[in-house]
Amino acid sequence: MKHTHIIGLGGYLPEQILHNKDLPAALETSDAWIRERTGIEQRHIAAEGQFTSDLATAAAKQALEDAGLTIDDIDAIIVATTTPDMVFPSTASIVQFKLGATSIPAWDIQAVCSGFVYGLAQVDGMMRGGMFERVLLIGAERMSHILDWSDRSTCVLFGDGAGAVVLEYRDDGTEHGVIGSTLHADGAYRDLLMANHAQRNQVIPGFGGQNAPDLRLDSAGVAAVEMRGNEVFRTAVKQLGAVVDEVLELHGLTHNDLDHLIPHQANLRIIQATAKKLKMSLDHVAVTVNKHANTSAASVPLAMHALYQQNAFKAGDLLLLEAFGAGFVWGANLVRWSKQ
Ligand SMILES: CC(C)(COP(=O)(O)OP(=O)(O)OC[C@H]1O[C@@H](n2cnc3c(N)ncnc32)[C@H](O)[C@@H]1OP(=O)(O)O)[C@@H](O)C(=O)NCCC(=O)NCCS
Repeated sequence: MKHTHIIGLGGYLPEQILHNKDLPAALETSDAWIRERTGIEQRHIAAEGQFTSDLATAAAKQALEDAGLTIDDIDAIIVATTTPDMVFPSTASIVQFKLGATSIPAWDIQAVCSGFVYGLAQVDGMMRGGMFERVLLIGAERMSHILDWSDRSTCVLFGDGAGAVVLEYRDDGTEHGVIGSTLHADGAYRDLLMANHAQRNQVIPGFGGQNAPDLRLDSAGVAAVEMRGNEVFRTAVKQLGAVVDEVLELHGLTHNDLDHLIPHQANLRIIQATAKKLKMSLDHVAVTVNKHANTSAASVPLAMHALYQQNAFKAGDLLLLEAFGAGFVWGANLVRWSKQ
């Protein structure tokens, strides 16, 4: 039977590394505080003039090379990002151009930190429907561009990077490949984590929660991440715990069947909580948050790529990918590894 297989992986991190100890003194933070609360030691920061499409293109080239293919073999390009180069055209269109492709469809997915998990579910569904045989799926972010670098409660948490996979729909004589996905969203939480790019004093109707239905934006008029960290943390732990159970149960599997957890890399304590729920030791969990911080839609493919580079996966291994992000949106994919 045909299944969606991961046949190539790539990852790209910008050269510049910003260690906790090198954060601006004005932030009044410390390496110890950040490590203890989040597990983050450093993050990569894109160079001036290096856009999300550049990070995405670099990761995509690696994934194509790893698959032994060229862009001419690809039927569609999807970029999951919340930091597009521009409002439009899509970052995927720009990546298509930079990769030298013409005519194949290209579009972006905006599901913030869950973008890659949403994208994998979408591609798998489209492949099962017969639309494509080979798709390039990329998660790419330049978060550094939308951070308020004077807000220590958010700016220390994020980083830049891109991860990419080549997906192929084929029958390899096994039951390996993408098994299935579960996706959720709850817009009731829309104002707990956001980045606005509205003008100072602009009013966004219906965005202020139940007690203040209109939100007046009186912060700087540029895009900047704002977050109620504690509430995000609590909801993330709860919903990720539920979604991993849900996707396993849906496919008649249990936590005992899992070989690897590939979680979204926002906070080591959230990762540990999900691993504990699944009764998995951290040896079987991809952890890159210490080196990458939260790269939003790039975090899951980058974490998977890091383990792949260590030859951690063997054919038949069961991988659980999960993510949670602003919206809130969250989800999980189950993948039976097939790449040799
Ligand atoms: C952001 C987060 C690390 C904060 O940790 P926390 O233990 O919840 O800390 P709190 O927000 O309660 O803040 C505690 C104190 O630390 C301070 N603080 C916040 N950031 C700080 C920093 N970088 N350095 C030093 N102190 C900081 C706060 O100002 C607060 O001080 P106060 O008690 O004097 O008011 C944590 O809530 C978190 O990781 N949340 C989820 C984030 C996330 O996953 N986001 C993305 C989802 S995709």
